[in-house]
Amino acid sequence: MNLTANGGDFTDATRPIGVFDSGIGGLTVAAALRELLPAERIFYVGDTARVPYGGKSAATIERYSFEISRMLLEEGAKLIVVACNTASALAVAALEAQLDVPVVGVIRPGAAAAVAATRTKRVGVIGTRATVQSRAYERAIHALDPSVQVDAQACPLLVPLIEEGWLEDPVTDDVIARYLDPMLRNGVDTLVLGCTHYPLLHAALERRAGSGVRLVDSARNCALEVRSVLTADGLAAPMDETGGMRVVLTDPSTGFLRVAESALGLDLGEISVRVAG
Ligand code: DGL
Repeated sequence: MNLTANGGDFTDATRPIGVFDSGIGGLTVAAALRELLPAERIFYVGDTARVPYGGKSAATIERYSFEISRMLLEEGAKLIVVACNTASALAVAALEAQLDVPVVGVIRPGAAAAVAATRTKRVGVIGTRATVQSRAYERAIHALDPSVQVDAQACPLLVPLIEEGWLEDPVTDDVIARYLDPMLRNGVDTLVLGCTHYPLLHAALERRAGSGVRLVDSARNCALEVRSVLTADGLAAPMDETGGMRVVLTDPSTGFLRVAESALGLDLGEISVRVAG
């Protein structure tokens, strides 16, 4: 299957950047794109009907990723950002092979940030079960520096706690301690927030990890990679364009949307709903 964006003219720089996540968490990446690339139009699809992806099989995650990418291409996306660690871990290679537009995931930018940050060459990675089982972060980190020791921990309870808005809560603090303490005892000096939701727990994670551990997430690094791909391919929107963001969800569930909107300081305006698949 080869998927092509509507219109076929990939040099049209005013087309939107298509961004998708399994749900709302990818707005952390969309916010970084808005900040770095204000002239760009962002078209964001959150697959809220089928979130979470993190406990699903690789085949299902890949199928969902193609279905949502098709929605983005129908809007004329000039580049696709996979703003979901789970989909990046399991589907980016297949998307890159089959789509006719550039694809940028969040794993490589996060890995690059971690390798740049670590002094002791001991890096912790937290993410969903699917992300951790895929070992995508280990591969991406070792491609940059094979001598870095990686401790990866699946944290399946964190996404539901975040979606409940329990960002500052003793229960969340206890869960974080249980997940992080073994890797902290192993001496990691850098912690990769390998899930788009986790930046919302930055304060609580930082409190547990302590000042000696640097927290890195992919959002800003992913936005930097998007900027360099757009520039290299002649796809960057002219500076005088008025950018913006449009959000489409596959289910009108809004509880977590409001949590994310207030935590990220985003005004998402009108949100529409479209069925995926
Ligand atoms: N967006 C997912 C990720 O970054 C987390 C939520 C899910 O499990 O779908 O891994």
